[in-house]
Amino acid sequence: MEKILIDGGKPLVGEIETSGMKNAALPIIFGCLLVKDRCVIENLPEIDDVEVSLQILADMGARIEQIDRTTYAIDCTKVRGGSSSLELVRRLRASYYLLGAEIGRYGKAYVGSPGGCDFGCRPIDQHIKGFEALGCTVRMDGNYVEAVAHSGLQGTNIFFDLVSVGATMNVMLAAVCAPGVTVIENAAREPHIVDLANFLNTCGGQISGAGTDTIKIKGVTELHGCSYAIIPDMIEAGTYMIAAAATGGRLKITNVIPKHLESITSKLCEMGVTVTEGDDFVEVSLEGKLTRTNVKTLPYPGFPTDMQPQMAVLMCLADGISKMHESVFDNRFRYTEELIRMGALIKVSGKTAIIEGKPALNPARVRAVDLRAGAAMVIAGLATKGVTEIDNIRLIERGYDDLVGKLRNCGADIRKESVG
Ligand code: EPZ
Repeated sequence: MEKILIDGGKPLVGEIETSGMKNAALPIIFGCLLVKDRCVIENLPEIDDVEVSLQILADMGARIEQIDRTTYAIDCTKVRGGSSSLELVRRLRASYYLLGAEIGRYGKAYVGSPGGCDFGCRPIDQHIKGFEALGCTVRMDGNYVEAVAHSGLQGTNIFFDLVSVGATMNVMLAAVCAPGVTVIENAAREPHIVDLANFLNTCGGQISGAGTDTIKIKGVTELHGCSYAIIPDMIEAGTYMIAAAATGGRLKITNVIPKHLESITSKLCEMGVTVTEGDDFVEVSLEGKLTRTNVKTLPYPGFPTDMQPQMAVLMCLADGISKMHESVFDNRFRYTEELIRMGALIKVSGKTAIIEGKPALNPARVRAVDLRAGAAMVIAGLATKGVTEIDNIRLIERGYDDLVGKLRNCGADIRKESVG
């Protein structure tokens, strides 16, 4: 076990390069299972969730070859369906993409129930709705999900009851080789949905409309290998944008797609932060004081729920009373107890947090309660004079590539230390 120690109160100044997007990398890695050929995937972030996903495929018989730090060759020609390790599958939520990929390749799937961050109830009923519409019979016992298309898969129309990133991607995986045409309505529009569609199309798929709420999939008989580079991680970039503002620093964040950051940039400017956009970078600085704002998290292109805890930290340091409304997940405010330990003035009622800003927080020993909450605690520590300790940092390393190294290069006094 390790913890992070931060001696904060110093402005972050310098340049940070964003890594590949975790939430695009994971479905694309599992999407390689659909391809009985060699796929070369570039710009993979060096994070635990990628490592575990590659291990799951390797244990199933895939040939995995690391070409350089962020490039892997994945050949699933000899993969045995239904053989994923329950222990590994449970370590991340994205393992549920194995369901769509196995259904897409074999017409059936047998996968352990997914794990992932705990924000209250996280059902997969919309994923199942999609699989059943494609012709599968789906059975769930406590540990496993089993799906079988007894009479084969058949393209169909699916109207999701709610916008779901996971369900949209899982149905794309299941339908890309299904005979006929599948139309997904009320689809999620996140950039990583477009990235998965682009990967599958590079492999010979025929998917159109990704990035809108209606996605059309013309089933193809087979996919072939390809080389594909993952898009930059907009949530990682947004996290560092907020860290620059919270510490009163100046950061140039490179390898970004500014369009993906629009909702974050817009909110930061409302709070008095200066954001300059280039073709593939943003520069973030704070000259004056932070002023309050209100945020409601929404599916893309709205303000991302994965930026909610980080933005809440900034609100804790802004003049006035801010309001954070979480409309995507049931309970994504557990981290506020940790911020209150640092002196934050936060009142949570249902899915809304009322945050009264103050000039500074106090250093304390806190813990990461989930991935993005952990990143928020790092930002709080960086902005606070004195030494803040953060426990349970494995959760942070699931989704941030070299977070400590990237921050140290910009003047942060931050280090990891083993516990016990
Ligand atoms: C993905 O989770 C991401 N995870 C999450 O990122 C992200 O917060 C979320 O999308 C929203 O953008 C991965 O990509 C691995 P959803 P997912 O299906 O697919 C409900 C991070 O920090 N729902 O869009 O689980 C669900 O409970 C992680 O990187 C159903 O009710 O999100 C939630 O309230 C955290 N039934 C809402 O919809 C379903 O069948 C949105 O969930 C599916 C979802």
